[in-house]
Amino acid sequence: MLKVLVCVSGGGTNLQAIIDAVADGKITNAQIVRVISNNRNAYALERAKGAGIDAVCVSPKDYDDREKFNMALLQAINEKEPDLIVLAGFLVVLPEQIIHEYRNRIINIHPSLIPSFCGKGFYGLKVHEEALKKGVKVTGATVHFVDEGTDTGQIILQKAVYVEEGDTPEVLQKRVMEQAEWELLPKAIDMIANNKITSVIN
Ligand code: GAR
Repeated sequence: MLKVLVCVSGGGTNLQAIIDAVADGKITNAQIVRVISNNRNAYALERAKGAGIDAVCVSPKDYDDREKFNMALLQAINEKEPDLIVLAGFLVVLPEQIIHEYRNRIINIHPSLIPSFCGKGFYGLKVHEEALKKGVKVTGATVHFVDEGTDTGQIILQKAVYVEEGDTPEVLQKRVMEQAEWELLPKAIDMIANNKITSVIN
């Protein structure tokens, strides 16, 4: 059974998709062992508690400096000895120590077709604002492994989503979530839990 730890910062709709996929049997051989949020008010924490999942907040605001926060985050992760860490809308840059300790065992969902609209500063609604500004006709979502760079790790799954006439960033964000993110992230977890991902760059 793959022990999955999910890191979140906000609403947690991707977390919900994972919880539902485990309950529906779309993800097999995996269990969510903990949800960590950097934001005490994240609705994602309520979703976790509602599903009976251990949920904790590790906020930078509770620590004197970044180093102490990083150590607390690593400890909150290590306590559960996860096999896989899933960044589901986690807006904290992961400390290198965590990336080293969990190499090839951390995945992230990003709301665009990487390498478009990704990297530093591209998160949440901003990604869709930039896609609309550029006038792309197709966007989508990407699940990838996490390495030391921002959105640079090996791509696992991608799905394209059409931009439609009159889209606002909010409308496009919702469509990308519904048509791509909520499908891709559970699928990637199920593939990892069932050893269907073989090519990992070391
Ligand atoms: C999602 O759209 C996710 O792709 C994005 O944050 C949102 C979180 O929503 N992540 C990033 O932009 C990471 N660079 P959620 O809390 O409802 O799952």
